[in-house]
Amino acid sequence: MTKEEAAKKAPRISLHGHWSSRMAFVLAVTGSAVGLGNVWKFPYITGENGGGAFVVVYLFCVFLIGMPVMMSEVLIGRRGRRNPVATMSLLGEEEGSSRRWGLLGSLGVIAGILILSYYSVIAGWTLAYTYKSAAGNFAGGSAADITAIFDTFTGNWLEVGVAHTVFMALNIVVVARGVERGLEQAVRFMVPALFVLMLILLGYSINSGHFAEGAAFLLTPNFAALTWDSVLVAMGQAFFTLSIGMGAVMAYGAYLPAETSITGASASVVIADTTISMLSGLVVFTLVFANGLNPGQGPGLVFVTLPLAFGQMAGGTFFATVFFVLLIFAAWTSAIGLMEPAVAWVVERFHKTRVQAATMVGSLIWALGFGTVFSFNVLADVRFLKGTIFENVDHLTSNIMLPLGGVFITVFAGWVMCRNSTADELGGAGPTYSLWRFLARYLAPIAIIFVFLKAVGLLPDLAGS
Ligand code: TRP
Repeated sequence: MTKEEAAKKAPRISLHGHWSSRMAFVLAVTGSAVGLGNVWKFPYITGENGGGAFVVVYLFCVFLIGMPVMMSEVLIGRRGRRNPVATMSLLGEEEGSSRRWGLLGSLGVIAGILILSYYSVIAGWTLAYTYKSAAGNFAGGSAADITAIFDTFTGNWLEVGVAHTVFMALNIVVVARGVERGLEQAVRFMVPALFVLMLILLGYSINSGHFAEGAAFLLTPNFAALTWDSVLVAMGQAFFTLSIGMGAVMAYGAYLPAETSITGASASVVIADTTISMLSGLVVFTLVFANGLNPGQGPGLVFVTLPLAFGQMAGGTFFATVFFVLLIFAAWTSAIGLMEPAVAWVVERFHKTRVQAATMVGSLIWALGFGTVFSFNVLADVRFLKGTIFENVDHLTSNIMLPLGGVFITVFAGWVMCRNSTADELGGAGPTYSLWRFLARYLAPIAIIFVFLKAVGLLPDLAGS
């Protein structure tokens, strides 16, 4: 049987329900994309990596690598209509390659588990900060006061552990009940609300008189200072923030109606996600310069700058509470997407109920999360490779596993799947299709491998450069 014949074999029996509309799919993927990655991680790693040039590389990665990877994931997911592991082995066989492509799905299941193990801890910080905001703890505080609140809190493993536990419990409950229910409504409200609050914060930060400095830090590139390690981090962030490289978007794609435009849906998600990140970068760095803080201070950056701003703003207690509640929702809709590949896999592979699968997977993630809880207190001095346990889990997942997943996903969609299958999913041959195919076959996989090799110093610089 040729590849083409194999691909046309009996129509797929759908194992899943469907999204009610294209909008529902875009909302769900946007909900997974917009999260702590935009509001917490983007500003702090941008600060650690020197600003402007890092942001430019990040934006290139989002559009030239992230976008084609996302489209590939959605099209693979829709064609397979199963959990990522089953989809990859099914399509691998059907496209005349091998069922072993299912291993790629497993890589994603593991990445999701590891990411959520630390994501849940930071979401726990957010929970605690909602409480502290509502209690008025930040009102009128100086930069030193608010930094001390952060250090004291993260230094207390019990408090952080309890917050992490509460967040994981919330997650297990939602995931156990099925991915579709309630998610659409939550995202429909949460993303625009977060956007509006960001605008309010932006207005406030512009008033501080330091907006030009913040914007310059974020947008003026100085490539001389950029290292290959920072390029790797920027690329990792593109994968992380778009939720790609681990089959999560593939899992959502499985529910996508056949007639929906994959290009259009992916573009909407990418634009919404990038807008939120850039806005939060502008706000955070303006506040950093307005208060004489250090942009490279690390994971506490937003947890210091924003409470500081809220603490000085009229109605700050109210706005701070609303903001952190929205951030909890943003983190929550992402966490659901991080857990879904593992849960779907356990359900379909071991014939467990969703409740059982969510409880098993969730408990594992919860336990692993203590590696990150302790990274900020009792185990803060345990450092190896990239630093603390948290830093290593983050580096391994965002900067290695997700981009590596991206290589396999684009190679699969661009080289293993036959032209007919991919053109069929992407609405037929045309300029958009050709551009996607070029990016997926050549640019994305080659660029990712090149950055990997550069970052570990395996490719020498050309003479004189
Ligand atoms: N994109 C999410 C954020 O920025 C984090 C994330 C990474 C994610 N991979 C994912 C969320 C997969 C859902 C599914 O916060």
